[in-house]
Amino acid sequence: MRSAWLRIVRYNTFAILSPDISIEEPVLAFNPINWLLGLFSLDIAIDLGTANTLVNVRGKGIVINEPSWVTIDKRLRQPLAIGLEAKEMLGRTPGNVAVIRPLRDGVISEFDITQVMLEYFIGRVHEQSVVPLPRPRVVVGIPTGVTEVEKRAVYDAVMASGARSAYLIEEPIAAALGAGLPIADIRGSMVVDIGGGTTEVAVLSMSGVVASRSLRVAGDEMDTDIVQYLRNKYNLLVGEGIAEQIKWRIGSAFSLHPEKTMEVRGRNLVTGLPESIEISSVEMREALTGSVQVIVDTIRDALDEVPPEIVSDLMDVGICLAGGGGLLQGLADRLTDELKLRVWVAEDPLTCVARGAGMVFEDFDGLSRYLVGLERGSTRHST
Ligand SMILES: Nc1ncnc2c1ncn2[C@@H]1O[C@H](COP(=O)(O)OP(=O)(O)OP(=O)(O)O)[C@@H](O)[C@H]1O
Ligand SMILES: [Mg+2]
Repeated sequence: MRSAWLRIVRYNTFAILSPDISIEEPVLAFNPINWLLGLFSLDIAIDLGTANTLVNVRGKGIVINEPSWVTIDKRLRQPLAIGLEAKEMLGRTPGNVAVIRPLRDGVISEFDITQVMLEYFIGRVHEQSVVPLPRPRVVVGIPTGVTEVEKRAVYDAVMASGARSAYLIEEPIAAALGAGLPIADIRGSMVVDIGGGTTEVAVLSMSGVVASRSLRVAGDEMDTDIVQYLRNKYNLLVGEGIAEQIKWRIGSAFSLHPEKTMEVRGRNLVTGLPESIEISSVEMREALTGSVQVIVDTIRDALDEVPPEIVSDLMDVGICLAGGGGLLQGLADRLTDELKLRVWVAEDPLTCVARGAGMVFEDFDGLSRYLVGLERGSTRHST
């Protein structure tokens, strides 16, 4: 990982040498210098997620898709590994090394580490180019309903990690664009993006948000539910990483046909010794029931606010699930059953936000209206 750190330093050096044109606020007016730089530089869309960070480069597609984890040497405050390499170290590190998630609940909790992670990913994108390129324009997703400070933190982290200009887009809008929903249409559509830290619900029509909810219960909370369930029922202690794998394999929100089982290893809290037990998807459904119900209730709550015309549209087009949480087995069926609307999973739900945010650069004049400013309430929500 030493090499990665060197890459960061190299990229920083390059960033210092490149023309220093920083834009304080998302400026959409024509700027001739930016236009000239734009002919040579990269346009990058970033889904800076609690669980995964994706980088979508215009003309190339998604070139980075890695867990948002950083391993740091606590004494030197230096990164040792970033992304997948860091996540693999989770639960296996010596005392002086910490594996950190710089984002929690969809927002930045460790600013410096987020910046290092972004620098590393943007630097890697630059390394893939044979000629040196000026600093990129970046559009980055943010959850809805975040505070001005939280927005500013994302903007500053992106600028500090070497962007020439940074634009913000709300994640459900990006997810809807990425899922191919006709959000400019007069007919309503609805997206539910279930990530690691947040569940974002949005009903959209005529390029605006008719109703939205942002809930800080999503995939991470489900992992915690599984850890607690195994501790309470079996006195078995498992790590977050194992809990996530259990969720992927046998987690579910609705009956499975057939139900599944898997062997889990951990430490028995009573004897202190290693133990291996077999658990079933029925048990995991019980473990996840609280989080799943909160998500169902939040969607129902958003639907309550929607005018009947749009409800009628949604009865035709259904609700689109995006984000990794949408892949939880049986979730679409459970929602369909409870909400009496067809619920379907977007194609490649984990990349919807990155693909949708990237579309802004494909048609900047047409889609820049979806970008949001830094000030509070600068969104398009009617609620
Ligand atoms: N097959 C699966 N079944 C259940 N959950 C899954 C599956 N695949 C991924 N996930 C979960 O999806 C979550 C990650 O989704 P995603 O990458 O969309 O989140 P994120 O964008 O990083 O987070 P956020 O949007 O909250 O900041 C993780 O909690 C992960 O465990
Ligand atoms: Mg997300």
